[in-house]
Amino acid sequence: MRKRAAAPAASPEATTARTVVTSTTAPSFASRLIDWQRVHGRHDLPWQNTTDPYRIWLSEIMLQQTQVSAVVPYYQRFLLAFPDLPALAAAPLERVLEQWSGLGYYSRARNLHRCAQELMDQFGGTLPNDIEALGRLPGIGRSTAAAIAAFAFGVRAPILDGNVKRVLARHAGVEGFPGERKIELRLWAIAEERLPATQVEAYTQGLMDLGATVCMRTRPACADCALAADCVALRTGRIDTLPTPRPRKTVPRRDATLLLLLRHDAVLVERRPPLGIWGGLWSLPELPAGADAARYCATRFSASVRADKPLDVIEHGFTHFHLTITPQPCAVLSWNARAEEPGLLWLPLMDAGGAALPAPIRKFLMGLGLPR
Ligand code: ADE
Repeated sequence: MRKRAAAPAASPEATTARTVVTSTTAPSFASRLIDWQRVHGRHDLPWQNTTDPYRIWLSEIMLQQTQVSAVVPYYQRFLLAFPDLPALAAAPLERVLEQWSGLGYYSRARNLHRCAQELMDQFGGTLPNDIEALGRLPGIGRSTAAAIAAFAFGVRAPILDGNVKRVLARHAGVEGFPGERKIELRLWAIAEERLPATQVEAYTQGLMDLGATVCMRTRPACADCALAADCVALRTGRIDTLPTPRPRKTVPRRDATLLLLLRHDAVLVERRPPLGIWGGLWSLPELPAGADAARYCATRFSASVRADKPLDVIEHGFTHFHLTITPQPCAVLSWNARAEEPGLLWLPLMDAGGAALPAPIRKFLMGLGLPR
């Protein structure tokens, strides 16, 4: 059925019916997006122009909550270190974290490593091509599974990452915080409805590209948008208020004192427990709350130190809380080498840039100035 008979005399229902006729003959959301992507989208990102599932999987994990420009150098270095799935699965976690260091959200690196080992053990060293199996693997949620399946295998499945939530919430005029389950389900349904029957790779890339380069969070380029003609947020003046922001709640705050012990141009670092913040990364030893630095160093490291004036605090925001770090410098008067254990390391300051340290700690150590 292509056309309807002329609408009868005006009534609210008839008006609605005419609107439907018009919208079915206009190019669909998907076809406008695909045409736009072919001309204006990104075609030369390092993980494009390949169907190698390993590269596509790696890129999609790195791109979770992280911008393309930040990912590109990490992606390229990571592939040099671990060119394929067997290389990644066989590597010690420590080396993987080292390559990830600075990219943030380290559970992604731990899951990536665990996933590589599961793929070797249970899938013969390949990625499965169905989204249910992909979605059961560590670190791969529904949207990432769909993106991997679309780019690597041409599978037709909707994606819904942060950028896509913004595009769809605006275009369909969806009110409510997209992190809320009910709203998210609504957006998934919209994402599903709009999927084209074919060309799912160009469509998926188009959604990502439009979200990143046109439908930006602030000051979107609506005049250049291929989807502007029927964008509900644009028509109703809600571009600046959609998607609805996360309801404001005060984030919990935590204070931590970190010991800065320097000796022979090296800094004492301690491996953090596997769970909790910065799990498995090396960081400055944390002084238990209320403890005296010199006394703690005497019992913990058999070291005699003099605590100097604390340095300026470092503020660091995590998703769920805010951390205020006070670096406590300590002059090492005597050090008992026997106190060294596997989880402790004197890290040469000049190696801080490449070590598996949390980004704010690395930045802080690099800011101390390299040894002369
Ligand atoms: N964000 C998530 N996946 C992406 C991809 N494949 N290309 C660009 N941005 C992305």
